[in-house]
Amino acid sequence: MFCLHYLQRAFVYPWLTRGRPYPTLYWALALVFTSVNGTLQSLELLFGGYYSGMQDALSPCALAGSALFAFGMATNVHSDYILRNLRRPGETGYKIPQGGMFEYISGANLWGEVVEWLGFAIATQTPGAAVFSLFCLVGIGGRCVATHGWYLRKFGDAYPQQRRRMIPFVW
Ligand SMILES: NC(=O)c1ccc[n+]([C@@H]2O[C@H](COP(=O)([O-])OP(=O)(O)OC[C@H]3O[C@@H](n4cnc5c(N)ncnc54)[C@H](OP(=O)(O)O)[C@@H]3O)[C@@H](O)[C@H]2O)c1
Repeated sequence: MFCLHYLQRAFVYPWLTRGRPYPTLYWALALVFTSVNGTLQSLELLFGGYYSGMQDALSPCALAGSALFAFGMATNVHSDYILRNLRRPGETGYKIPQGGMFEYISGANLWGEVVEWLGFAIATQTPGAAVFSLFCLVGIGGRCVATHGWYLRKFGDAYPQQRRRMIPFVW
């Protein structure tokens, strides 16, 4: 799961993205964070003594967490695709995204990533994955909340009122 996500994020997403140039400082901070986090998560998964055999990979938690991860990643990739295609060549403004999980959540691409790491934590059952998931909930989830407010302020009554911050139909 971890490798799949970061292969997509590091080697596929950058070739497709079309937005504003990304600040070098944030890129460097992300490089440091993901290098340290990836190393620690890997060491814990490989040498933490949490798994005894194949039956662990087929436990209810592993299966449910993997399914949640798959749904989150599909949402993340699909939502990034929708955002990418909102602008015609040369356009730089912001529009209301339509389709997929955007019908329920304003920051569906970010939300998908929060769901991914929640699934990862449920599947692996390790403290490190739980902390990482919490970190994403606060950091990326916080951006979901801010994104919702931003859309409401920018588009007002034209913005679909059924959309929510983090929990479809509720909040
Ligand atoms: N794992 C992590 O710690 C982490 C942290 C941050 C991000 N991410 C992931 O990286 C991906 C991109 O993140 P991001 O922060 O760049 O997401 P974002 O702010 O939603 O922007 C994604 C792209 O879509 C464009 N865009 C966004 N809203 C738009 C709108 N309403 N109309 C037209 N274009 C719009 C942006 O253009 P502009 O550049 O012009 O705004 C940008 O090119 C996401 O999948 C996110 O989950 C992961």
